[in-house]
Amino acid sequence: MKNRTIIIIVFGLVLFISGCNPSNESPKTLAVENASVGLNSEIEAKVDSLLSIMTIEEKIGQMNQYNGFWDLTGPKPAEGDEAKKYEHLSKGWVGSMLNVRGVKDVKAVQKIAVEESRLGIPLIIGFDVIHGYKTMSPIPLAESASWDLKAIEKSAAVAAQEASAAGINWTFAPMVDISRDARWGRVMEGAGEDPFLGSKIAIARVKGFQGDNLAKNNTIAACAKHFAGYGFSESGRDYNTVDVGSSTLNNIIFPPFRAATDAGVRTFMNSFNELNGIPATGNKFLQRDILKNDWKFSGFIVSDWGSMTEMINHGYAEDDKDAAKIAANAGSDMDMESYVYIEHLATLVKEGKVKEDIINDAAKRILRVKYELGLFDDPYKYCDEAREKEITGSKEIHEAALDMAKKSIVLLKNDNNLLPLKKEGVSIALIGGLASDKDSPLGSWRIGADDNSAVSVLEGMQQYKENSLLYTKGADVSIGKTSFVSETKINTTDKSGFEEAIQAAKNADIVVAVLGEVGFQSGEGRSRTALGLPGVQQELLEELYKVNNNIVLVLNNGRPLVLDWADKHIPAILEAWQLGSQSGNAIAQVLYGDYNPSAKLPMSFPRSVGQVPIYYNYKNTGRPKASDPGTVFWTHYSDEQNTPLYVFGHGLSYTTFEYKDLKIEGINTSSATPNIKVSVTLTNSGERQGKEVVQLYIRDHFASVTRPVKELKGFELVSLESKETKQVTFELDSETLGFFNNQNEWVVESGTFTVFVGGSSDTSTKADFEIK
Ligand code: NOJ
Repeated sequence: MKNRTIIIIVFGLVLFISGCNPSNESPKTLAVENASVGLNSEIEAKVDSLLSIMTIEEKIGQMNQYNGFWDLTGPKPAEGDEAKKYEHLSKGWVGSMLNVRGVKDVKAVQKIAVEESRLGIPLIIGFDVIHGYKTMSPIPLAESASWDLKAIEKSAAVAAQEASAAGINWTFAPMVDISRDARWGRVMEGAGEDPFLGSKIAIARVKGFQGDNLAKNNTIAACAKHFAGYGFSESGRDYNTVDVGSSTLNNIIFPPFRAATDAGVRTFMNSFNELNGIPATGNKFLQRDILKNDWKFSGFIVSDWGSMTEMINHGYAEDDKDAAKIAANAGSDMDMESYVYIEHLATLVKEGKVKEDIINDAAKRILRVKYELGLFDDPYKYCDEAREKEITGSKEIHEAALDMAKKSIVLLKNDNNLLPLKKEGVSIALIGGLASDKDSPLGSWRIGADDNSAVSVLEGMQQYKENSLLYTKGADVSIGKTSFVSETKINTTDKSGFEEAIQAAKNADIVVAVLGEVGFQSGEGRSRTALGLPGVQQELLEELYKVNNNIVLVLNNGRPLVLDWADKHIPAILEAWQLGSQSGNAIAQVLYGDYNPSAKLPMSFPRSVGQVPIYYNYKNTGRPKASDPGTVFWTHYSDEQNTPLYVFGHGLSYTTFEYKDLKIEGINTSSATPNIKVSVTLTNSGERQGKEVVQLYIRDHFASVTRPVKELKGFELVSLESKETKQVTFELDSETLGFFNNQNEWVVESGTFTVFVGGSSDTSTKADFEIK
């Protein structure tokens, strides 16, 4: 601290600020709000004056990030690294630490950086606060199912509050990778398959984490990741090759990243994958041309864990030194756990292979964010033990987690209104290893949470005391202890609990079967080729059905599953994902109707794995239908339908909604300044209050680049009392009617459009309009 003060006083020159103020002039974005963070002249001056007295090693030090000494979220570093890390910290050769958490530990590392290094530059402390820190909210895919942007923003804000109280000031979230492939384990971490919904959610999460003032002690810097294309890994296998054309890149993959940039996200993370032959970490097109140049991003880019050295395995960099050169020149500002910047950048600068300007720019970006966070005013501002104690796991945070969990549950099916359950006089058999599992609901990104700390479904249901409840496991999903780093072993043989479960089902009025995936079955490094219920669970379900047809299937999972048998036989299905710390309470409240579900799927659920990747905004092809019944010459499978089992946007309620009077008003039909007003009348035609996500899709029939059969372009979450009616209005403009053509230009083209409005992507309520 002492050194820092001196620097600011002696070198506090006010320097001219370069014109890199982020702007949102072009319509090349789906982001509707321009919340770009303008550069602060005072901060710019301080950064420049600090930079002017830093040695090249100290600047490179800012670009170096080390993992802490406790948690691992990637491959284990080599022996002996620990001593080196301490030494580098005290020399000011470390700009950031990740996986250091809790006030005590954060303070300890911060103290070394601030009090032992020459310039006393504080560290930025990063952590994967993906859906909560210690108190877990639902996995991001589940939260996205709420389509409730306010709730999602609040959930991120609450996570920031809890994490910041534990010393953390930077989260590696939101993950804004669009993915259409349920085999990829990381779909749990994103917002699903759609770029429009994904962009809105990206904005909500960035706003939630960063708040309106990054310098407050309860806000943290966000990180849009993984730039770019990670969600399109071939065959859904994690880390695999990505090869996509410019239309998909511009229209599907980029929009949420652009939206996050325009919302002022302060950091980006690049990606493990190669994109069209160039690893993302060494990709100049992505990092310099698009992000820093076109989008005017003023924050910094961190590599993914070891992704610099991994360029050697990709066959792109020859060795560590080459990897450092490629990454720095391509625009990666900070090295997470590759150790190549600290080892080689100074030499590369001496040899003229990396220009000093590149180092200056990277260090400047990192220092800028540290100033914005207020770390130079008080490096220990996130290190208040009393605040940590008061906030961690507080009642308020748990209430927010419960609220978000309820909003995330999707009612997939409810034949004969089997749900909600009656509150008394019913005998219930609760079955499934997951029903009593207090760990799996925490998901896989929960390093800060205590093991087994979630409320189980059993505990949630036990609170409804007027029914008889008998719990029996039936079968476990996995064998032994599961963990973040090791492969989960699935139980494929042990059916010893079947008999007891079948007896319980036989004697009960209703069976509630809680089945699906354990917490560590989705997430990083957890791709799957089979998407059915893992292990012996499908068999268990079929056995239960033989003795009792009144089954409510509650699913706990981190990705879309294949549920064809269940859909044919089981009358009620509730998609309850991994809902975090309050999971069991949320599920019980929905089962008993104390909360009326309103969530809608953010990803299509396939009928079979062979359909994957499957998504609602597909292209029509030249042969969308058979010309004559029975002929083969059209785009189809001979053994399966083309449509998914549950479409994007699907989700039921305990009430019903009717859509009427779809009206279109062409306020301005010119392609230069289009303005189309769409309105629809929504009525709650059922017997109880409920919420509906009204969705608007368009189809641009003929264009210079073929357009999808449907594209989401608007949605509104509407709450209505029984029999209440409301008119819902949307406006379509050049941002929603346009697209990137193959010259990478944003265009609105004249021609016929169809607009569809309804409660899911397969709505048939539609009308046409024309753009001239
Ligand atoms: C690797 C993951 O890909 C990334 O998302 C995460 O933030 C880092 N590890 C740090 O844990």
